[in-house]
Amino acid sequence: MRIKGSVEDISTDKVKEFYEHRASSYNGENIYNVTMLQDKNPELSEERNKAEVAKILPKLKLDENSCVLDLACGVGRLLDAMPENIKLYRGIDFSESMIELASSRNTRTNAKFFTGSVLDVDKILADELGSFNRVLMIAFFMYMNDDDILALLKKIPALMTQKGGLICVKASIGVNERLTLKDFYSEELKSDYESIYRTRDEYMKFFEQTLIPEGFTVTEENYLYDDDNLNNRKETTQYYFILER
Ligand SMILES: C[S@@+](CC[C@H](N)C(=O)[O-])C[C@H]1O[C@@H](n2cnc3c(N)ncnc32)[C@H](O)[C@@H]1O
Repeated sequence: MRIKGSVEDISTDKVKEFYEHRASSYNGENIYNVTMLQDKNPELSEERNKAEVAKILPKLKLDENSCVLDLACGVGRLLDAMPENIKLYRGIDFSESMIELASSRNTRTNAKFFTGSVLDVDKILADELGSFNRVLMIAFFMYMNDDDILALLKKIPALMTQKGGLICVKASIGVNERLTLKDFYSEELKSDYESIYRTRDEYMKFFEQTLIPEGFTVTEENYLYDDDNLNNRKETTQYYFILER
């Protein structure tokens, strides 16, 4: 089903199964395509990754004091692009095979990956609560229901008690209206596929209910790709927000 406008929950179990299958059946080629889902043209994943990293990475202002939390980290794509001298990196993803893949690719001693739901971040990283000054939430809000996004965002301020906290959110958004894929079979991905493309305004409302009352401000927001060729859909596009306090 393609549901336009109205709010319908999707199945978190199906999302988890989908990504678990992609990671466990990885064939050794085009690592970023495991999570960037361009099965018809896997090279596009590489191009999109390059464009995204070029645009987003400088905005994270990473240096030797940066303690990065990468929620729903996938194969560790963002870590690949980070400077060696960051202080600490923690990645969490609920797909066990994804975390195995990410860990097997990691050579940094200050980086660790954990299996679990982002909603359990405070339990998974109980020993390091408060120590983060960079939180990345890249390309997974599409797979979470509204209540879960609000629950997660409410937990973030307590994870970042240091001064100078910066959050980056990137999501596929609905251009004109919310679009939900539910009980949907994707011919392109040859799989059941569920996701929610919210509007930019819906994301702003989430921030207004969670991060903004805790002192965060949206310091920047924009469409991700300057090159239209990198965006291959009409109804959805990639968008990012930077929040700081
Ligand atoms: C499109 S990928 C993005 C991966 C990574 N952030 C990146 O940009 O390369 C989405 C990832 O979110 C993970 N994911 C989705 N919902 C999650 C949840 N509730 N808890 C933990 N991981 C989740 C999936 O397993 C998958 O690896």
